Amino acid sequence: MIKISPSILAADFGDLRNQIKLVEDAGADMLHIDVMDGMFVPNISFGAGMTAAWRKDSKLFFDVHLMIESPERYIEDFVKAGADHITVHVEATKHIYRCLQYIKSFGVSAGVAINPGTPAVMLKELTNITDMVLVMTVNPGFTGQKFLPDMLTKIAEVRKMFPENVPVEVDGGIGLGNVADVVKAGAEVIVAGAAVFYAESPAAAIAELKKCGK
Ligand code: DX5
Ligand code: ZN
Repeated sequence: MIKISPSILAADFGDLRNQIKLVEDAGADMLHIDVMDGMFVPNISFGAGMTAAWRKDSKLFFDVHLMIESPERYIEDFVKAGADHITVHVEATKHIYRCLQYIKSFGVSAGVAINPGTPAVMLKELTNITDMVLVMTVNPGFTGQKFLPDMLTKIAEVRKMFPENVPVEVDGGIGLGNVADVVKAGAEVIVAGAAVFYAESPAAAIAELKKCGK
């Protein structure tokens, strides 16, 4: 059974408490929190302060995706804010192995992400220290972008590289039209922004994604 992690980057920013409750009540498995610094990606989103505020109202598994330069500077803040899982980009730090160790030292699950232009081989030394691996299927920065079909082979390659108990998460441009393709390639955790929050019924969208991805 796949897991759905709705990305609040696509939610109504003026109504986030209710938007989070909506997907929590609808059976979302996680909440995907996209943190952007305007440096690693050309957009700025939200930080640890907002994450801590959402933590007070939600029991969802907080899946924090850091799209920031030198993420080690902010790991502790996100741990304190209540993150359950923290993903850092292999491209964003000089010391990815140390950074993953550092996340785990707080007892928090650690993830590594790769951009579309980065080959899977960059993850090779990280297979035993990673709890979940994220394959970007758009160039990171914005919600509502078009899925890059070239990433399907990378998803399959990454799935083969990591132990079976390390889930492959896919992120960007995924909806009802392609969820079956990414699952067939090996994805187990589906991030969905526009496909959930732009839908007339986010609850129905989550249920449909789960059904199509079976
Ligand atoms: C992109 C983010 C994604 C994105 C997903 O930089 O990491 O999580 O918001 O949104 P959709 O599903 O709309 O591409
Ligand atoms: Zn993301």
